[in-house]
Amino acid sequence: MTLHYFRHIALTLELFAVVAQSANLNYSGEAITTRFWDCCKPSCGWAGKAQFSSPVVSCTADDKPTDFSAGTGCNGGSAFQCSNQQPWAINDTVSYGFAGVYIIPELTHGGIEDAWCCACYQLDFTSEPLIGKSMIVQASNTAYDISTANRFSLAIPGGNTTSQNACAQQYGVAQSVFGDNMSGVSSTDDCLKLPEDLRAGCRWRFDWFQDASFPSANFRRVVCPAELTAITTCIRNDDKQLAGKTSSARSLTSTTSSTMAVITAILLSIISI
Ligand SMILES: *[C@@H]1O[C@H](CO)[C@@H](O)[C@H](O)[C@H]1NC(C)=O
Ligand SMILES: *[C@@H]1O[C@H](CO)[C@@H](O)[C@H](O)[C@H]1NC(C)=O
Ligand SMILES: *[C@@H]1O[C@H](CO)[C@@H](O)[C@H](O)[C@H]1NC(C)=O
Ligand SMILES: *[C@@H]1O[C@H](CO)[C@@H](O)[C@H](O)[C@H]1NC(C)=O
Repeated sequence: MTLHYFRHIALTLELFAVVAQSANLNYSGEAITTRFWDCCKPSCGWAGKAQFSSPVVSCTADDKPTDFSAGTGCNGGSAFQCSNQQPWAINDTVSYGFAGVYIIPELTHGGIEDAWCCACYQLDFTSEPLIGKSMIVQASNTAYDISTANRFSLAIPGGNTTSQNACAQQYGVAQSVFGDNMSGVSSTDDCLKLPEDLRAGCRWRFDWFQDASFPSANFRRVVCPAELTAITTCIRNDDKQLAGKTSSARSLTSTTSSTMAVITAILLSIISI
């Protein structure tokens, strides 16, 4: 009888753990957005940042995938941001892209890069002129310099050059081609001055994104589209679990009601002990 009792307790704890864990993956909230394109190796490009298939790919100065252990070009190393980690429009209302992320610890249960590196998020914009538009971004980088709000710094070529000269080093052009420090280039014509592989993502800012200034968004974690993970080569181990949890609302409801049934049965059997 005692053994039964402990088994019931163990089962109950396990069920709570499962419920808590899926709640942890499926977080959402309000966020601010900024822009960046500093040409530095993305922070999620290092091994061990999270449980994933491989880190975010970084590139050599001639835009070829490089060793994950190569140091960042922003600190004397040879690894830079690959040119194809830029945004593109799927249609008038949806775009895909990459971002430097910060999520407040209350949502991640204290996790930092281990919680967000290579996770994907849907951003539903909540300020004009972007209301009604959404982006799905993969977290390839980290935006630690604001830690009081959820933040997505969108990777947009020429969007905001904060590095000293990494872009100049990577592309062999004047750093000024990438625009002003803190704000980037200022018009679609300026995009023509960028290296060719970066122009489409630069123009996206003035076209689909309507050169929005710090738009706000509601965000939620989503399973990464294959189009994004094909570019970074990074898939989080827990995306599979998230896919299982979100594949259908009905299966979630039935899991919840069977959990309730088991808990009720346990309570009844404890009373009968
Ligand atoms: C550029 O990046 C800096 C540093 O993260 C940030 O403070 C600033 O708001 C950014 N500017 C834009 C236009 O996103
Ligand atoms: C835009 O693309 C998204 C994602 O593929 C799709 O769900 C949505 O229906 C499309 N919207 C329009 C207006 O085509
Ligand atoms: C860009 O501007 C910021 C804020 O004024 C400053 O802290 C930073 O040193 C500047 N970076 C460069 C490369 O000029
Ligand atoms: C995840 O959260 C969203 C909104 O916060 C909700 O609509 C969805 O049903 C949740 N899914 C799971 C599996 O909890």
